[in-house]
Amino acid sequence: MDRQLGNPGPVKLELLTDTAAGELLTLQQAAYLTEARAHQNFDLPPLMDTLDDVRAALADPSIAIWGFRDDGRLVAAVRMRADGPVGEIGRFVVAPDRQGEGLGTALLAAAEEATPAEVTVFRLCTGERSAGPLYLYRKLGYRETHRSPEADYQLVHLEKPRMREPG
Ligand SMILES: CC(C)(COP(=O)(O)OP(=O)(O)OC[C@H]1O[C@@H](n2cnc3c(N)ncnc32)[C@H](O)[C@@H]1OP(=O)(O)O)[C@@H](O)C(=O)NCCC(=O)NCCS
Repeated sequence: MDRQLGNPGPVKLELLTDTAAGELLTLQQAAYLTEARAHQNFDLPPLMDTLDDVRAALADPSIAIWGFRDDGRLVAAVRMRADGPVGEIGRFVVAPDRQGEGLGTALLAAAEEATPAEVTVFRLCTGERSAGPLYLYRKLGYRETHRSPEADYQLVHLEKPRMREPG
């Protein structure tokens, strides 16, 4: 699927496989630095992942990792783990130089759409100081369910029921 988004051109949706492990790890580490700074926690799970962890996730049949490529470059990625009726979203990243172009919104929507029909609710969480992601999630229909303590801040848990096509 090609989507025309922002500047400079079309980006391509791709289900990532083992060959993307290295660039996925690099993208994740670059993107999550802002969150680490905001929460003064540099041990965030996405920053602690090793190459083997990323490889294991790519090989896990319950996890789909979607990415956007622009002219071959991986510029965004998101992880969707299906657990019965629940789709757990994580490791949601856009390359720092490509943020604010709508890539994150489009990728999350594409990942939700591509998730098997058995999944009836999507869940995710983020740190309470992640104002940007919280704004984006709320705008996309996610609602807060609860908070849980993490280091010296709270994790905000959100969910969204899956929209059914009429008929
Ligand atoms: C969160 C993230 C994936 C969003 O990707 P993106 O491509 O920049 O998001 P979009 O361009 O689709 O933004 C959608 C809206 O959210 C806002 N937004 C998203 N991230 C923002 C941020 N960090 N700061 C301020 N606003 C932000 C945008 O301004 C935009 O608002 P608008 O629709 O009113 O114009 C990206 O900022 C990122 O990789 N952040 C670091 C990693 C992270 O925090 N991941 C999520 C943790 S749970």
